[in-house]
Amino acid sequence: MNQSEDYLLAIESSCDETAAAVITREMRILSNVVSSQTRLHEKFGGVVPEIASRAHLERILPVIDDALSQAGITLDQLTAVAVATEPGLVGSLLIGLTAAKTLALTLEIPLIAVNHIEGHLFACQMQEERPLFPAIGLVVSGGHTNLYHCSETLQFDLIGATIDDAAGEAFDKVAKILGLTYPGGPSIQKAALQGNPKAFPFPRTFLKDPELRFSFSGLKTAVLYEALGNPGARKQPPALTAERVADLAASFQATVVDVLVAKCQQALTRYGYTTLCVGGGVAANALLRERLEEMTKQTGCHLSLAPPDLCTDNAAMAAIAWHHLDQGRIATLDLDVTPGLVR
Ligand code: KG4
Ligand code: ZN
Repeated sequence: MNQSEDYLLAIESSCDETAAAVITREMRILSNVVSSQTRLHEKFGGVVPEIASRAHLERILPVIDDALSQAGITLDQLTAVAVATEPGLVGSLLIGLTAAKTLALTLEIPLIAVNHIEGHLFACQMQEERPLFPAIGLVVSGGHTNLYHCSETLQFDLIGATIDDAAGEAFDKVAKILGLTYPGGPSIQKAALQGNPKAFPFPRTFLKDPELRFSFSGLKTAVLYEALGNPGARKQPPALTAERVADLAASFQATVVDVLVAKCQQALTRYGYTTLCVGGGVAANALLRERLEEMTKQTGCHLSLAPPDLCTDNAAMAAIAWHHLDQGRIATLDLDVTPGLVR
């Protein structure tokens, strides 16, 4: 059993993962429990908010219990409790917040509100020995494709975003079009292994645009027309064979990756920075990781990629709460959730 350290219990329930983690002040992750709801949502091809919040309600206490027991500590040893309060699904966020408030009140420990997106960026810092910021940050997930100017650990300013779909959302929707399983990212990555990334020259929207912005909805429609046909066209596309699915998946993935890498490079140049950090579910993508490594090597930049298990939603990344605590940013019990998307 761990005895003489400070322990943070972090809770995450912003979307469809019920998660809790215990992290020490030295950023050692003692437990990182994630209960995924993928099986509940897969038949719909996306997250159903009402199903998500009901599942969080059933799972939150067992997940917290698991996180504490895996860390080898008990409730009375906690120093503080942190919870992601923004952005996310309102019903889902409220379950985590209510659990966190109850623990803070009954244990008489500080309650700390964490921004989920800032957590995705902080996941990069957690594996670094030295301070990572200032840096350019990319959060690329199911809900966001955001570029940040990260001047210091708690100062992340949005400098670019998608004007329509997030990259992860495009992966999920394209997977559905191609008849692949949900979530789309891993299944497209797998199908793409057998395909030709140059088979379909899909539009690389905003690639040469001087603005730091993304758009993936035209790409999604281009894949749809190529796969299932354009309603206005007389000629129908060939049958969607496994080979064609693989080529479409590989071409789609290569397109998204080209744009993400180019925009990161553009942001680094514009801000004169030599450090890039990348987090969020899509940052688990093997091709994206490889291409970012290449780009940063060529340009002499330091790349900090969130470790794969800290890319997709988890509670350990809420360890950024230690910095809030150090700066006295403690929430009161009237804390509310802020569900809105940051665009
Ligand atoms: O960060 P995350 O777990 O949840 C949000 O905050 O949205 O990201 C989930 C997204 C999904 O859209 C999923 O398809 C995508 O991350 N994803 C991937 C990969 N693994 C997960 N996208 C591309 N390649 C992957 N290997
Ligand atoms: Zn996320």
